[in-house]
Amino acid sequence: MRAIDVIAKKRDGGELSRAEIDFMVKGYTSNEVADYQMSALLMAIYVRGMSTRETIWLTEAMLFSGEVVDFAGLGKPRVDKHSTGGVGDKTSLVLAPVVAAAGVLVPMISGRSLGHSGGTLDKLESIPGFRTNLSLAEFRAALKDIGVALIGQTSEIAPADRKLYALRDVTATVACPALMAASIMSKKMAEGISGLVLDVKVGSGAFLKTEPEATGLARLMIEIAGSLGKRAVALITDMNQPLGRTIGNSLEVIEALEALKGRGPDDFIELCRTLAAEMFVLAEEVEDSLSGRALYDKMIVSGRAMDKMIEIIVAQGGDPGVSEDYTLFPTAGHTRPVQAAESGFLQSVDAEALGRASMVLGAGRERLDSPIDPSVGMRIEARIGDSVSKGATLATLHFNDSARANEAATVAQMAFSVGPEAAVPPRLVKSMLR
Ligand code: URA
Repeated sequence: MRAIDVIAKKRDGGELSRAEIDFMVKGYTSNEVADYQMSALLMAIYVRGMSTRETIWLTEAMLFSGEVVDFAGLGKPRVDKHSTGGVGDKTSLVLAPVVAAAGVLVPMISGRSLGHSGGTLDKLESIPGFRTNLSLAEFRAALKDIGVALIGQTSEIAPADRKLYALRDVTATVACPALMAASIMSKKMAEGISGLVLDVKVGSGAFLKTEPEATGLARLMIEIAGSLGKRAVALITDMNQPLGRTIGNSLEVIEALEALKGRGPDDFIELCRTLAAEMFVLAEEVEDSLSGRALYDKMIVSGRAMDKMIEIIVAQGGDPGVSEDYTLFPTAGHTRPVQAAESGFLQSVDAEALGRASMVLGAGRERLDSPIDPSVGMRIEARIGDSVSKGATLATLHFNDSARANEAATVAQMAFSVGPEAAVPPRLVKSMLR
């Protein structure tokens, strides 16, 4: 078999066989298929799509590119959640400690920032000393000791996704349902979980912009989970504006720490409660979502969730002092406002543009080897439906480089649309699929 023939088949709209998909995934993971060949195949898949069975084969090839962890011996329920990617989405930083604090195992394999969206690993690495690159042995040990760990794909677990994820990030091939489903499900199925909650984002800051597209992706991922004998539920949630009030690595971790202390913006807290409740239901800790929400509140109010977060930080080499002293986080040197050009109501927000503006400031990558600046980002001051006066601050940029700040300010300014009509805030949770 030759890579060039597989690429040509997909380029011309053909359906790949399981053997062809295995060949490309194995070859790429072992460096026999070159980056440029895999980039061409990814673009062909992006343009031509994949059938459901091709997507299942791709997921399996990626899943079995590495080890599948088995935590069944620990005798506890094991659940996780994954988001399809958004702007300001830091829910994993709250859910992992909350759910683990209630005695459920959370073996979480996350991603880095992808396209305009942020990534849990980059956020966590803004905690001084925090290591997300635990070995498989360290991952197992953390699960045994404290019931939770947050790591990235490794050379042992989901290595194919590790390489493909980074390649998609820099080849404009992220927003493709088949590639997203295979990426997400391959790493999640490698974690040895019994149940998965999927947060499928839809709207201006999501990779998929319409509800039918998001629902299609949710169905596809639930089908893949079922084909591998796992339970999954999906919530279709709003991404027409950033979640919470912050975008950028340090800023988002601070917002998550505040949420663990019971403080923070309503939308962010509400989504954390909703997702945690479904994780508790899947873990069979509670019978229904209402009791799941109550359990979330109990973990927060009792301080057990925050204690678990401190355990995670210590176990993964980070400085636990950050939980009380936010000045320990990398902090940007300067701030500047983005102001409303006219009075009226905030009609809409181009959340993807705000994600791109944060990348321009240095919060994301433009190339495989671009460094991340953990200190930069922005604070969002206005929400859809708010009444704003001319000159009011819509967002505050946190930056270190003035030229980048000028560019980001122009992008951010155009992302907010203010008009005379009253505007209705979008519904946070649009639907749920089982
Ligand atoms: N999250 C992932 O892990 N993979 C994707 O492709 C998109 C979001």
